[in-house]
Amino acid sequence: MKREVTKAIFPVAGLGTRFLPATKSIPKEIMTLVDRPLIQYAIDEAREAGITEFIFVTSRGKGALEDYFDHSPQLESELHKKGKAELLKILKNTNMDSGAIAYIRQYKALGLGHAVWCARRLIGDEPFAVILPDDVISSEKSCLKQMVQAYNDVGGLMVAAMEVPQDKTSSYGILNVAQQQKNLIAINGMIEKPAQGDAPSNLAVIGRYILTPNIFTHIEKQNFGAGGEIQLTDAIANEIDIGHAVNGFLFEGQRFDCGTKAGFLQATISFALAREDLRDELTDYLNKLVSVINVAQ
Ligand code: G1P
Repeated sequence: MKREVTKAIFPVAGLGTRFLPATKSIPKEIMTLVDRPLIQYAIDEAREAGITEFIFVTSRGKGALEDYFDHSPQLESELHKKGKAELLKILKNTNMDSGAIAYIRQYKALGLGHAVWCARRLIGDEPFAVILPDDVISSEKSCLKQMVQAYNDVGGLMVAAMEVPQDKTSSYGILNVAQQQKNLIAINGMIEKPAQGDAPSNLAVIGRYILTPNIFTHIEKQNFGAGGEIQLTDAIANEIDIGHAVNGFLFEGQRFDCGTKAGFLQATISFALAREDLRDELTDYLNKLVSVINVAQ
C-alpha cells in the first residue's frame, strides 16, 4: 500500500438544521466566516497538507457547494478588465483543477462512518484523510499538515485530539489513553459520545483523521452506535481491537466548533480580528460594545 496521503474525504451531507432557516437554501458549508465559506478553509488546509484529490460526500440540496468550485470565466474577465488583481487572485484560489474533485451522494443519513464508507471505491488501496469542515482550525501550519508530518514518521491511523472540559465529553469521540509522548498519544480505545461520568479521559477527537482502507471492513458490518448512527469512532475502535496502531495527535492551533452558532460567531470575530483591513474598526466597535455592557450591568 502506498503511504503518501493525497486523498481527502469531506463529509458534507448533513442538513445543518442548527442553522435553519439559513440552511433551508444554503448548504451549511457555504456559510461564510468573514468572506470565505467554511468549505474553503477546509480545502486550504488540505491543500497545504499535500492533498490533491478531494472527495465530497454530499446529499440533496448541496448544489451550491458544487457550483462554488466552478471556474467563473465571466467574473474573472470582468475583474481583469477593471484591474482588480487582488480580487482576481482570491477568486482563482477557489478554482480546482478538472478531475480533482469527486462528488458521491450519501443516500441515507446513517452517520459519519457511513458517509466515509460511501467514498470507499474512490479511495482504493491508499491511506486517506477525513476532514469535517465544521471544525475550523486556525494555526500557523495547517492542522492536517502537522498530522501528515507526524503520520509520515509513525504510520498507523491518526486522529486529531484536544482537551475538552469534563462536562463536554459527551459531545465528542473520547480517547482511552495508553501512553502519551509529547503530542502523540497511543490509544487503546475510543468511545463515541460517552454518557456523563463514563468518559475514559477528557481528550476529544476533533474532525481530522488519517485512516487506511481497512476501516471500511468494519463499517461494512453496519453496526449502529451512539445516536443510532454508524459511527466512525466505532470503526476506529475496531481497528484498535484487531491490533492496529491508532494515535491521537495534539495539534497546535485554535479550534472553532462552527457546527454551533456560538462557535461560528467566535470564529467570525477571531478571523475578522486577524484581518488587517477589518481589525481597527472591529476592535473599536467591540470596545464600545463591552463598555456599554459593563455600564448596563
Ligand atoms: C463528530 C465525531 C466525533 C468528534 C466530533 C468532532 O461528531 O463523531 O467523534 O469528536 O465530530 O467535532 P459530531 O460533532 O458530528 O456529532
